[in-house]
Amino acid sequence: MAELGQDIAKAKELLERGELVAIPTETVYGLAGNALNPDAVASIFETKNRPSFDPLIIHTHSVDRVGDFVAEFPEELKKLAQAFWPGPLTLLLPRKAIIPDLVTSGLERVAVRVPHHSLTQSLLANLDFPLAAPSANPFGYISPTSALHVEKQLGAKIPYILDGGSCEVGLESTIVGIEDGEVVVYRLGGLEIAEIETIVGEVRVKTHSSSNPAAPGLLEAHYAPRKPLILGDLDKLIPDYNSRGVSFAVLSLQRDFLLLSDRLQIKLSSNGNLKEAAKNLFSALRELDEMKVEVILSELMPEEGLGRAINDRLKRASAGK
Ligand code: TXA
Ligand code: MG
Repeated sequence: MAELGQDIAKAKELLERGELVAIPTETVYGLAGNALNPDAVASIFETKNRPSFDPLIIHTHSVDRVGDFVAEFPEELKKLAQAFWPGPLTLLLPRKAIIPDLVTSGLERVAVRVPHHSLTQSLLANLDFPLAAPSANPFGYISPTSALHVEKQLGAKIPYILDGGSCEVGLESTIVGIEDGEVVVYRLGGLEIAEIETIVGEVRVKTHSSSNPAAPGLLEAHYAPRKPLILGDLDKLIPDYNSRGVSFAVLSLQRDFLLLSDRLQIKLSSNGNLKEAAKNLFSALRELDEMKVEVILSELMPEEGLGRAINDRLKRASAGK
């Protein structure tokens, strides 16, 4: 069973031996291994049950180290790195040969990010290799935003979890690249589009999986609880499921449903703050998934700021069920 703690030296020693360690970041917890060691990378895929066509993000200490892994750093993307790293931003950059094929699933670009979390920053400062780290959840399930979430699902498979408390942002990083000189967003995430646009002007958002072979990991059904998640107007869904005699629990941004028991409803932010809602989203979905009900009913968030990224996760979580 995995040990939980804050021992950077221990994490370093394990990683240097090619073992995996779960690490906290401001977005979600990562399942980390030495990105330059193909065996360590292979065991990340195996531990997560992740298909090998879905490439990994590599995490490094600072923008100064990126030159070690990437062949070129386009000016627009460098500006974003300078503005937002460390932070919830991942950049797709042309890779150097030092990055194993397995990391990028054979793609020519490698995904790179400098995470913002003091424990993981000190760990990375002490390592002489970058860390490949997908979210530390079994493939397809809800991403972990606390050490306990990781322990619950992967605890039996890894030796150590660096416990950095609960994640401040709560949604995965925003993934950005450049195509024919145009800045493209491939995954909505913890860094808002509007913030990116203050640095590089208008960007193209290209996040739909079927039209987006460049990011094979953006599968339609993802981030999903085990039970069905139904999205829509709660004022219609609740009476409808009631009359059909199907048991349910409810997720909303900030509403109280007086006719429904308190323990069957979760609101993401009592004052409707979308940053707070993002931070709470994944743990709320886990909680709802564990309730003794048949389905989860949820509304969508306002389609603005982080609401867009939350809605993206909710839609993927409800797809295919
Ligand atoms: O916030 C995050 O990004 C977290 C933390 C741990 O850093 N990591 C994370 O990793 O969300 P993961 O593996 O769950 O999601 C990575 C996504 C996948 O959708 C993958 O397809 C895409 O990034 N990706 C990775 N490398 C890529 C590449 N070379 N080209 C296109 N997409 C890539
Ligand atoms: Mg993931």
